[in-house]
Order: sequence, then C-alpha cells, then structure tokens
Amino acid sequence: MLKIITIIGARPQIIKAAALSRAISNHFRDKIQEIIVHTGQHYDENMSQVFIDELGIPKPNYNLGIGSGSHGKQTGRMIERLEEVLLEEGPDYVVIYGDTNSTLAASVAASKIQIPIIHIEAGLRSFNKSMPEEINRIMCDHASTLLFSPTPTGFNNLVKEGFSADTTAPFSADHPGIFHCGDVMYDNSLFFKHFATKTSQVLETYDLKDKPYFLGTIHRNNNTDQPERLNAIFRALNSITQTSSIPVVLPLHPRTDKALARNLDKDLFNQINENPLIKILPPVSFLDMIMLESNCSMVFTDSGGVQKEAYFFEKPCIIFRSETEWTEIVDAGCGIIANADEENITNAFNYFHDNYKELQYSPIFGDGRAAEFICGKMLENS
Ligand code: UD1
Ligand code: UDP
Repeated sequence: MLKIITIIGARPQIIKAAALSRAISNHFRDKIQEIIVHTGQHYDENMSQVFIDELGIPKPNYNLGIGSGSHGKQTGRMIERLEEVLLEEGPDYVVIYGDTNSTLAASVAASKIQIPIIHIEAGLRSFNKSMPEEINRIMCDHASTLLFSPTPTGFNNLVKEGFSADTTAPFSADHPGIFHCGDVMYDNSLFFKHFATKTSQVLETYDLKDKPYFLGTIHRNNNTDQPERLNAIFRALNSITQTSSIPVVLPLHPRTDKALARNLDKDLFNQINENPLIKILPPVSFLDMIMLESNCSMVFTDSGGVQKEAYFFEKPCIIFRSETEWTEIVDAGCGIIANADEENITNAFNYFHDNYKELQYSPIFGDGRAAEFICGKMLENS
C-alpha cells in the first residue's frame, strides 16, 4: 500500500484535492492510503470547511491551525509543524498543490527529511517574481520528484528550467519525472457541474435566475493592497454596471472585503455601496461558484482558478493582472489581460460584449481524468 500525505491549506487547494481523493476512492482504494494535513492557512467556514463538507473530501487527519501572518511567520510555523507530522507518519510521498505558502512550507519540510514530493500544477510561471506565488512555485518544482503540469506551456517551462522530458523511472529529487496530464480543476468542474445544477440555490438567493449578470473575484495582494489598482478596478466595474445596466456579482475574499474601506477613495467607496448593480457577497461554496460561473455573461478576475473555470464554462474573461500563467486562454482569444487599468478593462469589456459569439473554447485542459493519471504514475514509481 502506497502511503501519501496530501497537504492542503488555502481554498483552491482544498478544491483541487477533491479530485485526487475521488480518484483514490473510486479506483485505487486498495493501493493508495491518503492522509490529509490541513495547515489552517484558510480557516473561515466559507474559505475552508464548506469545501470539505461539500466536495466529499475525507476529514483532514490533522489541522495545524496556523492561520494568517506575514509570509515568513506563516511559512515558518507551517514548516515546523509539518516536519513533526511527516516524521510521525513516514509517508512514501508528500503531495502538494499549486503555489501557496502551504505548498512552499510542505516542500521545504519534506525535502529536508528526504520524503519525495509530488507537485500537482507544476511548471506554471508568471515570470513576475514580485508575486509571492512565483517564488513558491519555482522552489517547489525544483524540490519535487514527480511534477504534473496541467498545460503544455507549464511542461515546456519546466524543460526550459533544465528538467528533462525524457527521464524514465525510477524517479527521485535528483532525477525527477515531468508529465503533462491535464488539469485536476477541469476534472472537478466536469464532475461537480451536475451536483451544482441539482442542489445550488445561489441564483435564487441573489435573484439572478434567468437574468444577465457578470461575475467577478479579486484577491491578489497587489490588487487589494495597492489603492491605485483597487480604485481603478472598482471605477471600471462601477462604470460597466452603469453603461450596461447589468449587475456585477462579486463574492469577495475576506482580504478584499477588509481592503475596500481602507483602500478605496471615500467617494468611490460610497458609490459602490449605493450602486444596487454592484452585488458584493461573502465567499460562496464551490457548487454555488460553479452555478455563478456557468450562468454568467462574462467573468472579471485576478484568480488563477476562476480564469480557468471561465474557460471551462465558455465565458469570456477579463484578467485583472499584468500577465497570466494560463497563457493558452489568452492565446485562444477567450481571456484578455487588462491589468488594473480602467481604460483597458472598459475596452476589453466592449470587445467581448461585441464579439463573445465568435469565441472558440477548444479543449486544452485534458479529458477530465488528470487525477487518475497522477495516481497511476505515483504507483508506477513506487
Ligand atoms: C492565498 C495564496 C494565494 C491564493 C489564495 C487563494 C499565498 C502566498 N497566497 O492568498 O496564492 O491565490 O490564497 O484564495 O499563500 N483571511 C481571512 N480568513 C481566512 C483566510 C484569510 O480573513 O480564512 C484574510 C486574513 O486577513 C489574511 C488574508 O486574508 O491575512 C490573506 O490570507 P492568506 O492566506 O495569507 O493569503 P491569500 O490572500 O488568501
Ligand atoms: N471559489 C469558490 N468560491 C468563491 C470564490 C472562488 O468556490 O467565492 C473557487 C473557484 O471556483 C476556484 C477556486 O475557488 O475553484 C479559486 O480560488 P482562488 O481564486 O481563491 O485562488 P487562486 O485560484 O487564484 O489561487
């Protein structure tokens, strides 16, 4: 029996982990034992527990309760506690997702005590090292033994950084294996769409059923913490609602919610609060999010996951960043990088408003079975 420890901590990792847990439980139950460790990076009910309950993830065996803090403090505390758990459990592999501080902490803790690392969502690069996530990704990739990239671009980034595409098993940290496998988030969107349609009441709750609306999320630290950028984004959203008379629905990350009063100009803050077409919601569950994404007319976001889900559900996406790791979406013409620039956002909105019927969403994120592929490769290398 292969023993793996999956590390989760932030919202998107909990969601991604659901795909692997489901594949193990459906196809590899007698071959893989999964232990789940939650660092506690995200801890609000609607940023953590709701996903565990809703997506059928086994209850984490450990919750380290680390919580929020500066990068060094948060990551350092996680490393210390994760090392204890890894030494106690002695797994064959540690599985990490994406690029958060939880991912980085797990890769440092595991690599120092020579536990092989599996990095899911490897090879993604923004080529912008002022993003905390970019540092995390690069460091995690270079400590890993099995690297699974969701896109050809991610795979090629690894090759450019010196990983060999031609290595064969047995793999190790000094002889890593890299694979292009599709996206576990696509697995999840396909799998949970049906449940969302059956059970989510979010459209009824917010009076959106059969009505047009746009969907937005904002949480990147440079957007929430740089007043100039946050003001530009909200000025653009405010004017889009006024010219189109269509609401923008914004399930806001707690960091953004806290930043609005602090960083928006007072006039704009008041206008946003008084504009009935700007609907600010608390973070929603994944099934609710799938419903909001699949029924909206357009997506505005700085999230990595939401950019992809916009594409899965065939919605044009305006990206509030200066670059994206998901370049295939932009190359396909279905995403526009508008940064936090009011004019760019308005132009992108007008372009999609006029051209959305022409957009083509060819399948670029795999076949919905990335997690099964990953489990198969883990077992081959055990
Ligand atoms: C983290 C990840 C980011 C990912 C995002 C997903 C890092 C460096 N960043 O960013 O890559 O896209 O998660 O959502 O790991 N907060 C709460 N309640 C919570 C969690 C956070 O109120 O349950 C607030 C706290 O004020 C906290 C702030 O949000 O200080 C930021 O949280 P943190 O986990 O440090 O980073 P995220 O912005 O969530
Ligand atoms: N998400 C959600 N509820 C929300 C906002 C996002 O379930 O209110 C989901 C979204 O569908 C996607 C994931 O969270 O699967 C993306 O996480 P986030 O935007 O926090 O982080 P990123 O992907 O940018 O790291």
